[in-house]
Amino acid sequence: MRSMLSTLFPLTLAGSTLGATYNIAKSTEGNAFFTDFNVIAEADPTHGLVNYVNLATAQSQGLLRVVNGNFQLRPDSTTVLTNGAGRNSVRMESAAQYDNHVVVFNVNHMPAACGTWPALWEYGPNWPANGEVDIVEGVNGVGPNSMTLHTSPGCSIPASGLAMTGTVKPGDTNCDTSVNGNSGCSVASGFSNAYGAAFNANGGGWYAMERTPSFIKVWFWPRGASNLPSDVNSGANTINTSNWGEPDALFPNTNCNIDSHFGPNNIVINLTFCGDWAGQASVYASSGCPSTCNDFVSNNPSAFANAYFEIPWVKVYQ
Ligand SMILES: *[C@@H]1O[C@H](CO)[C@@H](O)[C@H](O)[C@H]1NC(C)=O
Ligand SMILES: *[C@@H]1O[C@H](CO)[C@@H](O)[C@H](O)[C@H]1NC(C)=O
Repeated sequence: MRSMLSTLFPLTLAGSTLGATYNIAKSTEGNAFFTDFNVIAEADPTHGLVNYVNLATAQSQGLLRVVNGNFQLRPDSTTVLTNGAGRNSVRMESAAQYDNHVVVFNVNHMPAACGTWPALWEYGPNWPANGEVDIVEGVNGVGPNSMTLHTSPGCSIPASGLAMTGTVKPGDTNCDTSVNGNSGCSVASGFSNAYGAAFNANGGGWYAMERTPSFIKVWFWPRGASNLPSDVNSGANTINTSNWGEPDALFPNTNCNIDSHFGPNNIVINLTFCGDWAGQASVYASSGCPSTCNDFVSNNPSAFANAYFEIPWVKVYQ
């Protein structure tokens, strides 16, 4: 019955995933990162070997700075850690919250070292009641990029048949945080250069996320992509996502009421180490990384000298 319906009414599905035009709501570049985002010095809920520092410490230690107009976020790369102490790093969250919106990240470089777990993502208060959208995430520098939703119960995605370049990870169709060890509903990028060393070697790229009541989409365009939309390239004040083509990840509302599972969300930029994902012994070992995650991160500060985000700008449209 389901397949008959989709044969008879293909336009209904296509129509539900159309984009729209948006106007700029917030453009953050250079020193504006220090005011548009708050630095949050709290414990990592995913048990990382990290010590999130406050703004003053981050600036005095050079963990947050603007270089040639580009904002950089990096961890400590000089201290050998003892007694289970975490490596100094930064987590920052947008002061503003957004419901339906588009966010575009222009990124030159990301952390890719063994033990790193960087992310560009969004979540809302009273987690997971207002949802979480992970736009860029991975561990130990190993791709592909993971794009994931984490929600309260009652939200899932189809295992296949979605119009996107990425692929749903086997078994990861339920977005509910209380099942599957909170893997969420997760899509592996179809681009080999959307994460890690390959991303950096290509000079970075652009990530965009569009959230509407009908879908959540994530796009990636590597530097030099021939299909890069002109409004993304120029950071235009008005964008039209209808022209952006097939996304890397599509989360439709077919088995998920997006309005009821997602509320006001803050944009987050964070870099943690080891912990629940990067530090899992089997994950760490299969990444081709030496020793154990905690040992490596504790004893090899210089391995993190290049484990930084460089972000020329972040723009939000509504
Ligand atoms: C960093 O980001 C990831 C993104 O998914 C998140 O799971 C993890 O909890 C974050 N670390 C924090 C909050 O310190
Ligand atoms: C947005 O792009 C679509 C597809 O090209 C087009 O049909 C529509 O008119 C555009 N909207 C605006 C306001 O330009």
